[in-house]
Amino acid sequence: RGHVSKQGLFRGRLLWFEREPDGATDEDAYHYIEDGGIAVADGRIAWSGPWSALPDEYGGVDYIDHRPYLFMPGFVDCHIHFPQGQVVASYAGSLLEWLNTYTFVEEQKYADPDHAGRMADRFLDMLLAHGTTTAVAYGSVHKGSVDALLCAALRRNMRMVAGKVMMDRNAPEALTDTPKTGYDDTKALIAAWHGKGRVEVAVTPRFALTSTEAQMEMAGALAREHPECLVQTHLSENHVEIETVAKLFPWSKDYTDVYDHYGLLGPKTLFGHCIHQNAREMARMAESRSVAVFCPTSNLFLGSGLFSLDKMRTTEPPVRHAIATDIGGGTSWSMLRTLDEGYKVLNLQGQRYHPLRSFYQATLGNAEAIGMNDKIGKLEAGYEADFIVLDSASNPAMALRSETIATLPEELFLLQTLGDDRAVVATIVSGITAHSRGKL
Ligand code: GUN
Ligand code: ZN
Repeated sequence: RGHVSKQGLFRGRLLWFEREPDGATDEDAYHYIEDGGIAVADGRIAWSGPWSALPDEYGGVDYIDHRPYLFMPGFVDCHIHFPQGQVVASYAGSLLEWLNTYTFVEEQKYADPDHAGRMADRFLDMLLAHGTTTAVAYGSVHKGSVDALLCAALRRNMRMVAGKVMMDRNAPEALTDTPKTGYDDTKALIAAWHGKGRVEVAVTPRFALTSTEAQMEMAGALAREHPECLVQTHLSENHVEIETVAKLFPWSKDYTDVYDHYGLLGPKTLFGHCIHQNAREMARMAESRSVAVFCPTSNLFLGSGLFSLDKMRTTEPPVRHAIATDIGGGTSWSMLRTLDEGYKVLNLQGQRYHPLRSFYQATLGNAEAIGMNDKIGKLEAGYEADFIVLDSASNPAMALRSETIATLPEELFLLQTLGDDRAVVATIVSGITAHSRGKL
């Protein structure tokens, strides 16, 4: 008993997805347990199920009682910029103005390892306060920014992916590397961090606009030499960006073709935005099993355009996709706020985004997009014990509305429409409560 009580035991309502729900009535796609328990051992879920079926070994063990709140797997943010926490809410018209005026200035501060170290803890605190337990993050051009972030994540036993941005043109001198240093620094990061604890390194050419052909070649070589690593970049976000890339790579059929040419399409590649691609580009996305990452708050804030889920389904197979905050082009750290803005972006185009699908996406769906759906995204025995506790009456408007909520989908829709960090009662990482509401 003494041994068992050292493990975490939690009680509350449980929800997790088994696969993508096919419409509003697909109850086989998820597990919902009205009075459930989660037992944790060695950072993993040892048991979950109805409290009434709690195994004997846990009988009489102290537990953390989160009733009536809702447990869900921690949110996964598939596209976020570590050095942009202090860029959020910068007044700009569109992408390139925003990058040049604020972002490329702010990111220079991450040359200082002390600054990067301090910001790494702030960044992870922010993620946890918003219920995000895993993120795929861009660092700055400085290798040290990724050292700082992954060191902090490792200390907290977080599942975190990050890469040093590669950029060798069209940026301030202080923010550029070279094809060789970009390659060498990424190699060194992979050797130092990839697979250590739960942290990983992603090959991260910022976007075609800020890389020479020589650097794109090196990014392709890294992706080839490290099939274990995710690749992340930006694609087809803004019209001026697209025109500029066409001029820089005059031989290319289109923007997607640039990445394709250097061998950067594939099931491990996350392409942020993917708003303005043509049918040929979508076909290549589908064939290559590349992932399009929807960043609704960013796309609205920067006036980039409207991501279309229907467009992802015009191909056979459909284009894989994910959803993300894109802090600091994005305006919220909260995946709840992000789902809400995603709903609005789709609704503007006559497309539906049922809350069962959106919450699937923010958890298991995003885990699938980064190939980690066997480790995170479910509240099932064997899965890593990263989960959150949500309160759907966590602000006055939610409390008022929640009085008339009758079903689980209604509750989820309320959470995404009116919820934010106040809805996150607790965030559990590797079985330990790493954040409690009101403690940031
Ligand atoms: N394209 C290239 N860099 C960035 C960035 O930092 N944010 C966004 N939203 N788009 C980009
Ligand atoms: Zn981005």
